[in-house]
Amino acid sequence: MTQNPTFTPFALEYYQSQFEHTVEYNLADSSVKCVTTREWLNEDEIEQLLDTGLFYPEVNGTRQLREGIAARYPQAGPDNILVTVGASQANSLLCSTLLQPGDEVVVLTPGYRQVAGLAQNAGCIIKELPLRPEHDWQPDLTELDSLITARTKLVAIVNPNNPTGTILSRTAQQKIVTACERVGAWLHADEVYCGTERQPSAEETPTFWGLYDKLICTNSLSKAYGLSGLRIGWAVATEPMIAALWRRHEYSVIAAAAPSMTLATIALQPEKRRSLINRQKKLARDGWQVLEAWLANQDGRFRVRRSDATSIAFVHYQLPISSLDLAEQIRQQASVLVAPGGYLGTEHHLRITLGYEPAKVQTALERISAVVARL
Ligand SMILES: Cc1ncc(COP(=O)(O)O)c(C=O)c1O
Repeated sequence: MTQNPTFTPFALEYYQSQFEHTVEYNLADSSVKCVTTREWLNEDEIEQLLDTGLFYPEVNGTRQLREGIAARYPQAGPDNILVTVGASQANSLLCSTLLQPGDEVVVLTPGYRQVAGLAQNAGCIIKELPLRPEHDWQPDLTELDSLITARTKLVAIVNPNNPTGTILSRTAQQKIVTACERVGAWLHADEVYCGTERQPSAEETPTFWGLYDKLICTNSLSKAYGLSGLRIGWAVATEPMIAALWRRHEYSVIAAAAPSMTLATIALQPEKRRSLINRQKKLARDGWQVLEAWLANQDGRFRVRRSDATSIAFVHYQLPISSLDLAEQIRQQASVLVAPGGYLGTEHHLRITLGYEPAKVQTALERISAVVARL
């Protein structure tokens, strides 16, 4: 078999796809315990699902779903939306639309390395804007100014961030836009964790949409709604950019699945959305309580900065061992899967997802401490 010899796999997703269905406790993903279809639909909604035709649906997404998505973005209409197979497909489409060899791409580190990996595979030069642990994982945006040059094609932001759970303030968002504007770079805002804010009083993180024209926002139902199995995501952009993404969408999957689009339309109805998001937030809050009680008994071996959003904790450990080696010991000895920080760009951390039943999180954490105690 002849493969492209310069291809680099997506290390985090490769690790998860090898092992997530082989362990007793999977805390390596980044959503929450997802609902079953039976659990969240009433009888009318079940009928809507059963009545969904199984011919090819509208390739860019059903109009009803695009209207439901557009309603969440100020001044956007259904023609500003492309429905995709998860945010991951939207991210992939925007990279194949925008990037050419030699382009510079700025990404956040630590971060979800999808855009970084796609850009690297496209022959681009990756520049990393560090999130600073000493500043509660916020970036120093004067560093962004020095990273952006006339060759910068794309600045890719994930807000709220995976894995740190940091939320950028509106002022920081504006500064990022100003930095992109200075050189005419495209801005990508991956907003899959909007709606996962952890403080009960916290407002939902505002979208970048509306701040800039050369902007593509991506999002999905995977994280905030706890519906990752639907594989429904979207891109929001100007109509010409949506048309360009759509041309690649036809090549890559033709369309997202019709039954998933029916369910996504239901999930976006205000009442339904509220209840799914409240459910996700409760799982994350309860999981964090379990983590904090566990941390208090670990004699300082682990440290974590409380995140502003997401159900994930990015846990620093004090051991002379790489994050992959530690994750592998935990997997092999304890049948618990966690994500190595090295795969998110920052060593000596483990990413642990807490949005599961508290008893499950508790047992998995105890198994982790037992492995670490033996090291
Ligand atoms: C920042 C970010 N973007 C996109 C994705 C992909 O999500 P999905 O394709 O399920 O929408 C993930 C998944 O972990 C993520 O963390």
